[in-house]
Amino acid sequence: MSRKKIIAGNWKMNMTLSEAVKLVEELKPLVATEDVDVVFCVPAIDIIPVVEAVKGSNIAVGAENMYFEEKGAYTGEISPAMLTDSGVKYVIIGHSERREYFAETDETVNKKVLKAFEHKITPIICCGESLTQREQGITIDWIRQQIKIAFLQVSAEQAKTAVIAYEPIWAIGTGKVATTEQAQEVCKAIRDCIAELYDEATAETIRIQYGGSVSADSAPELFAQPDIDGGLVGGASLKPDFGKIVNYNK
Ligand code: 13P
Repeated sequence: MSRKKIIAGNWKMNMTLSEAVKLVEELKPLVATEDVDVVFCVPAIDIIPVVEAVKGSNIAVGAENMYFEEKGAYTGEISPAMLTDSGVKYVIIGHSERREYFAETDETVNKKVLKAFEHKITPIICCGESLTQREQGITIDWIRQQIKIAFLQVSAEQAKTAVIAYEPIWAIGTGKVATTEQAQEVCKAIRDCIAELYDEATAETIRIQYGGSVSADSAPELFAQPDIDGGLVGGASLKPDFGKIVNYNK
């Protein structure tokens, strides 16, 4: 079965409001294609102007985080309804930077994933091993644990619509991209894990991205792998290069 590729930019903590709108205007013609799903995940304060700026284009807007409660006394947090009401369709959950700096755990990831589905926001669920874990040979075990906890209580119907991003921590922002074989091996292991948790149909439908120093040069080979359904792109999503990544097969 063929899955439509999904290529998402993760802007992280970059782009002021005026810079954001300028970047969208610059990238819009470069990423105009129906061949792949294109998502811009942007800082919360940029969401409303970016949603406005992408109107009429093929670009969907995502958030970089979300809280798992509906509303209330959670100073500084953003609720799922705030996102959907602003036109957000996707949300990155459990990025390794949130796990490292903001105390995100597998348990909070699971709560956020469930909440996102409840609000019909597509979660982009991140997993990935550290360099030490890779060197210790525990990568696959680690990733399987992250996936199993993230998908607790998630139904097969919901899981089919989810996006998983495999992002080896040692490859993020380092310019050190995983080899095609390393990326494919883990993405396949993730798909096998989904098949065990659910069934073959779910595993064949769910989309799995690779992230970590994806560039216009590395994208074509990575995205040609049987279990890699696109990418989650950091640094290169802030540049015209993102257009080349989206059009990796042309
Ligand atoms: P880089 O593409 O800058 O390595 O970032 C990857 C990433 O963390 C995307 O979420």
